[in-house]
Amino acid sequence: MIRLDKFLAETGTGTRSEVKKLIHAGLVTVNGDAGTSPEQKISPEADIVCVRGENVTYAAFEYYLFHKPAGCVSATEDAVHRTVMDYLTDTVRRDLFPVGRLDIDTEGLLLITNDGALAHALLAPTRHVSKIYYAKVAGTVTAEDVNLFEKGVDIGEKAPTRPAALEILTEGEVSEILLTICEGKFHQVKRMFQAVGKEVVYLKRIAMGPLRLPDDLPAGAYRPLTAEELAALKAQKRGNL
Ligand code: URA
Repeated sequence: MIRLDKFLAETGTGTRSEVKKLIHAGLVTVNGDAGTSPEQKISPEADIVCVRGENVTYAAFEYYLFHKPAGCVSATEDAVHRTVMDYLTDTVRRDLFPVGRLDIDTEGLLLITNDGALAHALLAPTRHVSKIYYAKVAGTVTAEDVNLFEKGVDIGEKAPTRPAALEILTEGEVSEILLTICEGKFHQVKRMFQAVGKEVVYLKRIAMGPLRLPDDLPAGAYRPLTAEELAALKAQKRGNL
């Protein structure tokens, strides 16, 4: 169930304040009843909402940028753990899913949508969509590691990893790094560091394709993609990036 004004705003009827005016003007009906209020909760699946007598078609696709916290799994259901979907309490669609996976202890950017074709394009191994991770790594990450990652390392797959850009931010007992990879094998970042004898102790994804994790989006929070972000993702889907 979501608020009537939010539903109308998300289906493109107008801004939140514009749709409130429409509701107060009696131009919006829910199941034929014009005595509605912006706060009224409606079911997008079950209720028929009309504006000036015209049926409002339900958003076909939704796209959310989620800042995954540690401690939840990138799945729609799980018998034991909290899932990323448990955080998205105020969405129109019920068929949303995370695009790809982050480990339970990994934080950061996760796209949540119900656009299967877009998800497929972003995840296709042949597309080489880049992902940028920030990590804290136990041990001193060296220039040699940078070279090894650039050449590709053996993580026990058929082929070595594709060239990856490793940037050392701080060196020490625990090093801070940025790593850009353009594939998404299971536990890939952790396994790449294992391959050079080091352990990732903290991992956060800060970018995926054209999407960046916003500084002002705290862990556990989400927001709809902006029109610019969505356009950039669709360009990526068409292979233009
Ligand atoms: N690489 C990992 O090892 N874990 C993640 O969650 C993402 C990339």
